[in-house]
Amino acid sequence: MGDGKGAIVEPEITLSPEVQEVLADVIAIRREIHAHPELGYQEVRTAALVAERLQAMGLSVQTGVAETGVVGLLEGGQPGPVVMLRADMDALPIQELTGYPYASQVPGVMHACGHDGHTAALLGAAQVLSAMREQLAGSVKFVFQPAEESRAGAERMVQEGVLQAPRVDAAFGLHLWNSMSLGTVGVTTGPAMAATDYFEIIIRGRGGHAASPHQAVDPVLAAAHFLVTVQSIISRSRDPLAPAVFSIGCIRGGDAGNVIPDEVLLRGTLRTLSQENRTLLLKRIEEVLHGTTQALGATYDYDHRPGYPVLVNDAAMADLAREVAAAVVGKEGVLSPEPTMGGEDMAYYLQEVPGCYLWVGSANPSEEAYPHHNARFNMDERAIGIAVEILVRLARRYLA
Ligand code: NI
Repeated sequence: MGDGKGAIVEPEITLSPEVQEVLADVIAIRREIHAHPELGYQEVRTAALVAERLQAMGLSVQTGVAETGVVGLLEGGQPGPVVMLRADMDALPIQELTGYPYASQVPGVMHACGHDGHTAALLGAAQVLSAMREQLAGSVKFVFQPAEESRAGAERMVQEGVLQAPRVDAAFGLHLWNSMSLGTVGVTTGPAMAATDYFEIIIRGRGGHAASPHQAVDPVLAAAHFLVTVQSIISRSRDPLAPAVFSIGCIRGGDAGNVIPDEVLLRGTLRTLSQENRTLLLKRIEEVLHGTTQALGATYDYDHRPGYPVLVNDAAMADLAREVAAAVVGKEGVLSPEPTMGGEDMAYYLQEVPGCYLWVGSANPSEEAYPHHNARFNMDERAIGIAVEILVRLARRYLA
């Protein structure tokens, strides 16, 4: 956020002695996981490490949930509600270029989103909370899920009953976030992240000679009409006060300048912040596709794959998260960011139970922070301590 000219102000972070005590271990676990990243639904080594740690804390542990997911249950000394804390464990298909001593030892796979930090932080929170078991009125469910990166591990965790037995009353999760500086925490009330939908469209014509288009049906021209017209749903069909974006990121068709091809392939994504808007725009996209192709004599195949639902933070739980975050990074450190049009599968839990998903700033104040999913992604590990403290406080505060 800074302009790089002024003096660097180190943030003030308040960590409890209990959290400080486990911090070195948490960082060691993060680096261990970082060195051995695993892609979605292949988190075998990571899951084994998590399960072993949870068992050593005396928790009841369930493994193999949604293939590689792990769930630990901590029952407090007194009865009460059940609060769930969630981390994602998967890495990305990226060749790491950080040069860290603990850089990935797996060619082409990297923890470039910080999920290694999420997993380590949740283990740290489990360690701290299990030591205060007797004081807790209720239970804490520690959920380590597979495959957040576009493979909906959370949806499968829900299908396999992670919110039941015992029934979860509230759910919290967080993302270490390099777009925000260390010492800040972001909490958005209401819709915070977008519903994601993906499309693969094939517009079919009839190939022929470019000099005799009247003997062919040109799918390139039909694709061009569709591309332009479909954007008008954003300006004409959408409520101007309801955010939405539709992007075509891939278009492929033809090889030669003098040949009309048989077909053109398009791939794109729709992002919306309400189910109502989502349903409306999904319908309009196909209507525009139908109309533009029909007008030009072409046909189409339309493959729509729904992604994640809208992520909605419950207002009361968001307030609780702000209060907790303020105790760790101070009132000025707590931000209320605008929603983003990115998607996150935490949404599957939050459409079933109230809860909140937080951003924990992880950009080092004095060096360039590379973005998530970059081969040089470099979070400030002090953010992991903040994450542990927030998770511990969320659970204690909710059960209080
Ligand atoms: Ni991520």
